Amino acid sequence: MRLAPSLLAANFANFERDIKEVEKAGIDLLHIDVMDGHFVPNITMGMDVVKAIRPLTSCELDVHLMIEHADAFIHDFANAGADMISVHVEACPHLHRTIQLIKQHGVKAGVVLNPATPVDVLTSILGDIDFILIMTVNPGFGGQSFIHSMVDKISALKAMIDERNLSIEIEVDGGINAETLPLCLKAGATLFVAGSAIFGKENRQKAIQDLLEKDFS
Ligand code: DX5
Ligand code: ZN
Repeated sequence: MRLAPSLLAANFANFERDIKEVEKAGIDLLHIDVMDGHFVPNITMGMDVVKAIRPLTSCELDVHLMIEHADAFIHDFANAGADMISVHVEACPHLHRTIQLIKQHGVKAGVVLNPATPVDVLTSILGDIDFILIMTVNPGFGGQSFIHSMVDKISALKAMIDERNLSIEIEVDGGINAETLPLCLKAGATLFVAGSAIFGKENRQKAIQDLLEKDFS
């Protein structure tokens, strides 16, 4: 498993300090939440923030786009230094084109499903993607409670991937903590986004260790 701290819960005036802190605890993947105030009711950061973070860290940058008209911005986010870009199926009417665009830039392509979106929508795109992000809260804000019915959804997705013999990673995002991470891990998730469970804690290194050790318990 890999843990991706979400910078949404970090100090926006101190990204460098917060990133160095989690890197010291062994983190090699950072989650960046991009919100546009249209697809989701919140506005966060854009490509210039990704560009500013890029030289500060050797972590891979996992950019979660919660925006409309994603196609218009893929080039900018890829050039800014994203290693992974995920787009919401609910916001991309031409999903296949969007995925191809991400891959043409040499970036890993992912599709995100909101809690109410069934895994069946992935049937015709499954062979084209590198990872799937299952939202375990409704997107827009950090610090929300994990939606427990998503565990069965992760299991169903894992079965769908295995049945087709594909190697697609399952990422989970929202309300991930020491109690909910093991449930998702057991269901088949391998990438875990955590905002408040890491940056919301006084001792971030301990918080990371507590989450990582769930892989062995
Ligand atoms: C929510 C974002 C998440 C958020 C998770 O829309 O996609 O990445 O930062 O925050 P926590 O871990 O606090 O639920
Ligand atoms: Zn996210």
